[in-house]
Amino acid sequence: MAILFDSTSRLFTLTTAHSMYQMKADRYGVLLHTWFGMKGSGSAFDYSYRIAYADRGFSGNPYDAGEDRTYSLDALPQEFPTYGSGDYRSTALKVRYPDGTFACELRYLKHEILEGKYSLPGLPAIYDTLPGVSSSNTKADTLVVTLEDTRQMFYVHLYYGVMEDLDIITRAVCVENHSGEDIYLENLQSVCIDYLYGDYDLHTFYGRHVKERNCQRTPLHHGVQSVGSTRGTSSHQYNPFLILSDRDATEDEGRCYGFSFLYSGDFIGSAELDQYGQTRLLLGIHPDNFCYCVGPEERFYAPEAAMAYSEHGLGTLSRIFHKAYRSNLCRGKWTRTRRPVLLNDWEGVYFDFDGDKLVQMAKDAVKMGIELFVMDDGWFGKRDLDVSGLGDWVVNEKKLGCTLKELSDRIHDLGMQFGIWFEPEGINEDSDLYREHPEWAMQIPGKAPTRSRQQLLLDFSREDVRDYIFSHICKVLDSARIEYLKWDLNRSLSDLYSAVLPGERQGEIMHRYVLGLYDMLEKLIMRYPDMLIEGCSGGGGRFDAGMLYYTPQIWCSDDTDAIERLSIQYGTSFGYPVSTMGSHVSHCPNEQTGRITPLNTRATVAMSGTFGYELDVNTMSEEEMETVKIQIQEFKEYYDLIQYGDYYRLTNPDNVEAYHGWEFAAEDGSEALLCIVALQIHPNGPGRWMRLKGLKQDGNYLVDGQEYPGDVLMNGGLLLPRATEEYESFRIHIVEKC
Ligand code: GLA
Repeated sequence: MAILFDSTSRLFTLTTAHSMYQMKADRYGVLLHTWFGMKGSGSAFDYSYRIAYADRGFSGNPYDAGEDRTYSLDALPQEFPTYGSGDYRSTALKVRYPDGTFACELRYLKHEILEGKYSLPGLPAIYDTLPGVSSSNTKADTLVVTLEDTRQMFYVHLYYGVMEDLDIITRAVCVENHSGEDIYLENLQSVCIDYLYGDYDLHTFYGRHVKERNCQRTPLHHGVQSVGSTRGTSSHQYNPFLILSDRDATEDEGRCYGFSFLYSGDFIGSAELDQYGQTRLLLGIHPDNFCYCVGPEERFYAPEAAMAYSEHGLGTLSRIFHKAYRSNLCRGKWTRTRRPVLLNDWEGVYFDFDGDKLVQMAKDAVKMGIELFVMDDGWFGKRDLDVSGLGDWVVNEKKLGCTLKELSDRIHDLGMQFGIWFEPEGINEDSDLYREHPEWAMQIPGKAPTRSRQQLLLDFSREDVRDYIFSHICKVLDSARIEYLKWDLNRSLSDLYSAVLPGERQGEIMHRYVLGLYDMLEKLIMRYPDMLIEGCSGGGGRFDAGMLYYTPQIWCSDDTDAIERLSIQYGTSFGYPVSTMGSHVSHCPNEQTGRITPLNTRATVAMSGTFGYELDVNTMSEEEMETVKIQIQEFKEYYDLIQYGDYYRLTNPDNVEAYHGWEFAAEDGSEALLCIVALQIHPNGPGRWMRLKGLKQDGNYLVDGQEYPGDVLMNGGLLLPRATEEYESFRIHIVEKC
């Protein structure tokens, strides 16, 4: 059993394949956090022996501790610390009571151990089984620990999902109000971990539009270090994925802890090194735009977070998340079915197209083996620029020169599938919808709203607004054969106000907006279970584990420059598998950077994602088209290896001297694909080697007809071909000799 409870010591021990997590209800009923890390022999040894009790000045003592001055919540490692309890660090819960006070203490009440993994109403969650999908069956158990507020107003249910084989422990929280009055949640974090000692580095992933998920690694210092978003989306600026590691942890060695938030709205992730050298890590909804009223007998669920531990460095940690997200977070047909290679028309033609032009592109695309044609922005309402039309989900037949069905039929007749772009949450003031329903857009009465890309956002916290948009989207989708949908969002939220909520509940909008988004996505995938949905928010502005529950792939970035993409996809790979990274080959010189890279290199990079093209194929030469044809054949050959294999980061593109490399290895080590991009070439330069990973030590491998033992390739490395052109790339297949 992965969850053990010792009733004498009130010790909970949770174990996965390689990690152990422990907490203990102590003599006062305080739930102490005692361990997260090495599993060792797996015996439920009580790690609370590590806690040092001492009389510490200015660290007060709870009343229950009587005259014991060595017992202070300000110093103890706790599972769910609360504001106003005498713990002056950052805390996981802040509640405004009906009398206007905030001080809150929780004590252990009861617990329940359940078979299988819990789910959360209206929120994404890692699953153990999905009806009808045998590949998703994974061993999982749930622990629910209930704490009670000492003023007996509410319960806090702490949820733990122990996914033994996946090596993941999930957490979520539910607050249940039984006070008979309204209470207000002003801060509710999903995860809190207290580390008693250790020197840690915090790894975060920061960025901006067209430069998402850069890695930042900093040693913790005294005080609070945090990243987060108050933009209403998880954001380009900071990703809701954090790692805490040993100072000297590398890709292959050292202890690391990963924390991933399954949520697509405001979040905060923080690490506080306290006065006693202890570290507290918190991850949850950002409190700035959050104040949620929980009425009598109501429950509020905080979103799920997934945690993993690796004692073998960052690479293993990432692969734990890759596997779990591929198989037990993404859902639906496209989780295991081979996805089509697509052509997206955006960078090829932008708004300048008609039906004939698109069909002309599709004709060339199909010759090269492209399987899906995606018509991006510009097909609806009055939309020849990004200043109008959003909200009017009516096909512009005049622009297309035909109906959507006719266009989709023509594309299908060529042997291709057809896909279409939407931005369901957006609205332009210059739209019929806005003229009819200005109150559906988020804006505060009496205050002029902030525009962004000259657009506003619809109030997705409102069911009537969602229903309207949903019915119009369905009308379009039902009018033609459409196999793919891109769900975009092109601005951050602002001017938070919902016309249907009373003043005291306006603090709920951000979260209600996200719940509304999830509700509509759920309805969409229920109604169109075979549709491939790609998430997007100006590229990777909502690239998070919450969205992956609904959209198995997300457009990684609006930056399609292959060299820039090396860093973006590298950073993304820390928390997310390549099968989720929307990635395309685009024109040269690149639209964003003006850089010229070989077509082969653009494919090497795009293949390490979902793979597609985003250019005007009609302008390509015969030779380029022939090259693309070969690239697509090659991608199809390596599909399983790339999409389901183990991903290894071999170098960091941001500080590599010359050759950047990464690798996909079959889980059983029987083959691998080594990808190399020459970032710098030097005449008369030195030889370059790359050490491979994930092979069998005692296996024998063939590389270009040459035989090597596995341990040699992993230690001596492979001598790489010499690049003769800037940004030249190589894809090298390594196969075990039978
Ligand atoms: C966003 C997306 C792009 C494209 C445009 C269309 O920027 O990230 O891929 O769809 O919108 O307006």
